Amino acid sequence: MSLRDSRIVVGVTGGVAAFKSVELVRELQRRGASVRVVMTRSAARFVGPITFTGLVGTPPVTDLWDPSYRGEVHVELGEWADAMVVAPATMQFLASAAHGFADDPVLATYACLRGEAVFAPAMHTRMFERASTQRNLARLADDGVHLVGPVSGPLASGEVGLGRMSEPSEIVDALERVLGTRADLAGKKVLVSAGPTYEDLDPVRFLGNRSTGKMGYAIAARAAARGADVTLVSGPSSLEVPKGVNVVRVRSAREMHAAVVGRRDEADAIVMTAAVADYRPAETAEHKIKKGDDLVLRMVRNPDILAELGASRTGPRPVLVGFALETQDVEGSAKRKLEKKKVDLVVGNEASDGFGGDTNKVVIVSRDETRTLPLMSKLDVADALLDRIRDLLAR
Ligand code: CTP
Repeated sequence: MSLRDSRIVVGVTGGVAAFKSVELVRELQRRGASVRVVMTRSAARFVGPITFTGLVGTPPVTDLWDPSYRGEVHVELGEWADAMVVAPATMQFLASAAHGFADDPVLATYACLRGEAVFAPAMHTRMFERASTQRNLARLADDGVHLVGPVSGPLASGEVGLGRMSEPSEIVDALERVLGTRADLAGKKVLVSAGPTYEDLDPVRFLGNRSTGKMGYAIAARAAARGADVTLVSGPSSLEVPKGVNVVRVRSAREMHAAVVGRRDEADAIVMTAAVADYRPAETAEHKIKKGDDLVLRMVRNPDILAELGASRTGPRPVLVGFALETQDVEGSAKRKLEKKKVDLVVGNEASDGFGGDTNKVVIVSRDETRTLPLMSKLDVADALLDRIRDLLAR
């Protein structure tokens, strides 16, 4: 677990949390990274550039027009960096970055960046919740930017709310995950189910659902990148199997049931993202059903895989995680599912959000707490969930 030999540009924009970027630079250095700093003029009102000169040994870039630079410093830094961390990322910065503006050192370096981008937003709750900010965050997540936080807590205004910048150590943890230098799930066996199930009516027809499998594939990808031994039990899906993941392909709920339950004993954690059909046709016709008068189908219940895993578990292993896709009262339903299915975590999301898309807005419910996460890429949701699973596995 280290950032040794990595090159990180820290971008500081003008918010009160800018004082924490000093600690961020120190934390990056402690973990072995080479750091350069770029800052906006308003950031320099919150924290003195000279502080960074002292820490880093090179003065921060505060002015793209400084004649002492040979060549174009933003291009040079954009090439040099393995990743850029912008912390704090203000509302203004997020809006400008989402729209491709490049008129200050932080924006221009981001514009030239080859490597990964990690932004840590910080602002007042109302600014964060403003529709324009949410739009810009969704756009940046779509562009591949990794967002960390914000979290709830005391704000500069004296109020308490969502909008506080994540702690420097959490930002650096996120960066390590993004750069794949974090093997905190090494030696753990993680089983993930994903996608829809198809319940056959006859040789050419089936009942299915609109699940794409993206969330489950993202979890499998991130778990493998973090060192886990991952088995993905996938219903029909056209997604590419992530690197280093073993895939078991299934079609119906009953096939998925057999594939998951059969591997239960060796798993440290099981994450059920699959949209398992609750019912199947009572009979599957051997030949194609011919049209005639109105057709009445009788449906019978499928096994509830997750509930069965929860009911039959005798100790704390495997850690069990369910997903709850809801159209209303997401948090309440997630809590009820946690109890009913006797699992450790339930990830709730609104059916209207992120269906088939690359982003998701979720709430993670456990017995002790509820964490509401902002809109994030599915890969970042996967990492946030895997952090919780890792903590449960450490108990
Ligand atoms: N699940 C399962 N087996 C099933 C149905 C669901 O393992 N036959 C898992 C899903 O993978 C998911 C969670 O249980 O992790 C979702 O549970 P639930 O919300 O009960 O499924 P719904 O069919 O949406 O339930 P309800 O109709 O009660 O809303």
